[in-house]
Amino acid sequence: MEIIMKNMNFDFQQIIEGNLNANIILDDRIIVYANKASKLLLGFNENDEILGKRFDQFLHPEFHSICKERLRRVTENMEIAPLMEQKMFQKDGSEIDVEIMAIPYKHSNNKMMSQIVVRDITEKKHTQHLIMQTEKLSLIGELAAGIVHDIRNPITAIKGFLQLLKAEIANNTYIDIIETEIQQIEDIANELLFLAKPKETVWQVESLFDILNESVNLFSTEAFKRKININIYTGKYKKLFVLGDKVQLKQVFVNLIKNALEAINKSGEITIDINKDDKYVYTNIRDNGIGIPSDKLDHIGQSFFTSKKEGTGLGLMVTQNIISSHKGKIMVKSKEGIGTNFTIQLPLYPS
Ligand SMILES: Nc1ncnc2c1ncn2[C@@H]1O[C@H](COP(=O)(O)OP(=O)(O)OP(=O)(O)O)[C@@H](O)[C@H]1O
Ligand SMILES: [Mg+2]
Repeated sequence: MEIIMKNMNFDFQQIIEGNLNANIILDDRIIVYANKASKLLLGFNENDEILGKRFDQFLHPEFHSICKERLRRVTENMEIAPLMEQKMFQKDGSEIDVEIMAIPYKHSNNKMMSQIVVRDITEKKHTQHLIMQTEKLSLIGELAAGIVHDIRNPITAIKGFLQLLKAEIANNTYIDIIETEIQQIEDIANELLFLAKPKETVWQVESLFDILNESVNLFSTEAFKRKININIYTGKYKKLFVLGDKVQLKQVFVNLIKNALEAINKSGEITIDINKDDKYVYTNIRDNGIGIPSDKLDHIGQSFFTSKKEGTGLGLMVTQNIISSHKGKIMVKSKEGIGTNFTIQLPLYPS
């Protein structure tokens, strides 16, 4: 066996050229050799030339200095640069996650170069992220269920005693404030509970306009104070019905209107309109607020994604959960500095 193996002539050119990991030789950070996998990794065609290009141009600036240091050690101290996660750019500018390691390579002219091996882990990172997201969610769920349970009992007691106090001391502003604030605590606790285990859904035929109107009314004082107009345009669609849970659907519109209000700095306008086709009703909630930067649009609706100091980043996630349990869809369009348009698509009743 041994003898046979010794006598075999391996085509090392083919082994490296066809290797599924990107193998690149750098002479002072200039690419002097790149196998097929390297070209594909960087978004080039197999026949494209990438020799002579600077490796740094494909590396995320965050890693320039560490890369320089690692390669210095490879060529000067003959060390191995261990596996490290970094980010690179492809030819068209898209960012990829990679694992990189490097070893010394002595060229035939005796010059020390570095051979680097790069593996694309973008997909792996993405899956990891999703798993983390799900784990985070179930963790919040468990936490929330516990906290909410423990908070509710004392709140019920406090509310009861407040009622007694109110009977004794009429028209006291402090008591009113305490009552509003306690309501706030209860609302937050309930929102958290939504994540833990969505309340039992009560399916009923509901008027979409009524739900929208009641949701808007909740904000009328705030909108008036801030000189923001909230208008509902139903056109000929004032009498459309959906099958769903009124409390949950109201929560959807409350979350969206609240976000719209928070996006408007000065005075502004929130426009709500309704459209339909054969199967669905579409509610647009449009604001002329700060908008969402295009690179942030993808993160919208992920748990804890918030740009607000006081935000939890849970509003849109709850919204999305409710909409999908109602067999609906949520769509967003936004332009920074111009405004945002959320569209809620829900099945029409009767379908
Ligand atoms: N209408 C909008 N205009 C601009 N940005 C928005 C709008 N709606 C959502 N966003 C962005 O999406 C993020 C997430 O919204 P989400 O409602 O999930 O959480 P939040 O509003 O930050 O916190 P919470 O809803 O818990 O108060 C916001 O922080 C904001 O950056
Ligand atoms: Mg919100």
